Amino acid sequence: PKEKSWTGSNFYFYQGFWCPSIVLRAVISFQKHFQACDSDIIVSTFPKCGTTWLKALTFSTLYRNQFAWDENPLLTFGPHQLVRFLEYDIYLNNPFPDLQNVCVYQPRLLSTHLPYASLPTSIKDSNSKIVFICRNPLDMFISLWSFLYKLGDESLEPLSLDEAFDKFYHGIYAYGPFFDHVLGYWKASQENPNKILFLKYEDLKEDINSHLKNLAMFLGVPFTDDEKKQGVVEEIAKICSFENLKEVEVNKKGVHISGIPHTGFFRKGKVGDWSNYLTPFMVERLEKLIQEKMDSSGLTFNLSS
Ligand code: A3P
Repeated sequence: PKEKSWTGSNFYFYQGFWCPSIVLRAVISFQKHFQACDSDIIVSTFPKCGTTWLKALTFSTLYRNQFAWDENPLLTFGPHQLVRFLEYDIYLNNPFPDLQNVCVYQPRLLSTHLPYASLPTSIKDSNSKIVFICRNPLDMFISLWSFLYKLGDESLEPLSLDEAFDKFYHGIYAYGPFFDHVLGYWKASQENPNKILFLKYEDLKEDINSHLKNLAMFLGVPFTDDEKKQGVVEEIAKICSFENLKEVEVNKKGVHISGIPHTGFFRKGKVGDWSNYLTPFMVERLEKLIQEKMDSSGLTFNLSS
């Protein structure tokens, strides 16, 4: 099946999710040809759930001893340039990319929006690790709508909130439905917590320092007592903060390989912004949908800070 995306291009229903037509070939190349190494770290996210933030955090934590502190590459490059998307970038125009060239630092740190079920088997079968982030669907919806509102085909009217809501409710957006995607990673992380670290945007917002310590531990590079005393954890949190990254020159001017201006990845960075947009009727429908879909999974979302 095929559907129009929110911006006028097409989505194909592929392996149970809505795949943007522009990346379908790249997704297939990635699935067919990517060979994971045991040391690989994959940042996997649902779009608009904190990908940019998680890339910055993982990059800074994993490689913190590979550059001088005041030369963190995040001061010069955007998080999406440093941790590249497999399907949106690396495999986009090249079915056989030279991954040794793509990954400047070691171990390799790469990213994807693919659902767990669609990941190449070598990722699942190797000792590679996955860091996943999701977010409450109400904020994710508003973040997505605001993001796409600016990116649409200029000859088309941007999708109204009502129209977008209808598509969102039915799971029709890139990599949707959200619930299937998130539950896929949730279940896999429950079965194998050493392989998948499951994070939520709201939790990171509430206590970034503890989550950074957990992340470092999960990645196999725990912060030493000396580092903790020197305030390294707080420094990483600060450099990766919304307020800081938004003001870095490249993030104010640069353009991602997919044509998206870097500014598009920094909007408000808040929990609960949905309350400024959604009608009570929309909220009620989404709350019911969350309840129905999350059912007895044990996964819950904080809707406000
Ligand atoms: P809002 O649109 O609600 O502001 P993604 O990176 O997955 O595309 O998600 C984008 C969302 O994360 C946007 O949310 C954006 O503002 C927010 N964001 C980007 N960088 C962030 C950071 N360093 N800290 C917290 N939120 C961030």
